[in-house]
Amino acid sequence: MKLRSLPVPAPLKKKIAVCADFHSVNRKMPVDKALSLLASASPDLILFPGDIFSLIGKKDVRECFNENGFSLLKGAAGLAPCFFSPGNHECGISPENRSAIEALGVTVLDNEFVKRGEMVIGGLSSGYRLPKSAFDSPPDPEPGFLERFAETPGYHILLCHHPEYWPRFVCGRGIELTAAGHAHGGQWRIFGRGVFAPGQGLFPRYTSGIYGQGEDLLAVSRGMTNSVPWIPRFFNPCEILLLSLSPEASS
Ligand SMILES: [Fe+2]
Repeated sequence: MKLRSLPVPAPLKKKIAVCADFHSVNRKMPVDKALSLLASASPDLILFPGDIFSLIGKKDVRECFNENGFSLLKGAAGLAPCFFSPGNHECGISPENRSAIEALGVTVLDNEFVKRGEMVIGGLSSGYRLPKSAFDSPPDPEPGFLERFAETPGYHILLCHHPEYWPRFVCGRGIELTAAGHAHGGQWRIFGRGVFAPGQGLFPRYTSGIYGQGEDLLAVSRGMTNSVPWIPRFFNPCEILLLSLSPEASS
C-alpha cells in the first residue's frame, strides 16, 4: 500500500485522504501500515467511500471479519475528521452498526449530507442494500438528496463508492469533488489503463486518478487492499489517495 498524491484545483486549500476498498476480512490486514501512512500525510479530512467492511447490514461491525475495518476507522478518527459512506460489500448499514461507527467519532453518510465550515460533505450509498444475489441486475442508488446537497452553499464533496454512478447521477449538478473506489484500479493495468472493474466491465473508463474538467471532478482510488487475493494485481499498487486541493493546482 502506498500514498499517492494528486493535485486538485479548488477554491480552498485542503489535504483530503481517500481510503477506499479496505475489504476487511478475518486475516492479517495492514491496519498499522494504513494508519502510519495517514499520520505521515497529516490530512485535514479522511474519506471512506465504501467497502471498508464486509456485510455490516447483518454482522456486527466490531467482530470477526469486520474487526480490522473497525480498527482502521478507530485509529483514523484520532488523526482527522472522518466520513464514511456504505459500499456494495456493506449492503446497507444496520442502526446498531451505524451507532458503533458514530461512537468512534466518524460521520456516517448514508444518502445524506452535513455542513462542515466552507464544505458540504455528502455520501451517495451503494444501491446494493442487500447481497448481490438478491438482484437480477445492478440496482440504482437513491440520489434524491443530491439536489438539496448541491443547492446548499459551500464546496461540495461527495463520497460515492461506485465511480460508474458519477456520469449518470452526479456529474453536471455542481458537485465539485466526488471520491470513489470499487474499480480496484481495473485489477491489471496495461498501458496505463485498467482491464476489468465491477460495474463497468472490460476496459472500464473510471479506475484510477482524476476525471472531469472544470467544476465537477471525480477522484477514483485503486483501493487499499487486493479484494480478491487469488487474482494478483499487475502494475496496480494498492493505495491511499491524498488529494491536495488548492486554487493553484491543475488536474
Ligand atoms: Fe465495491
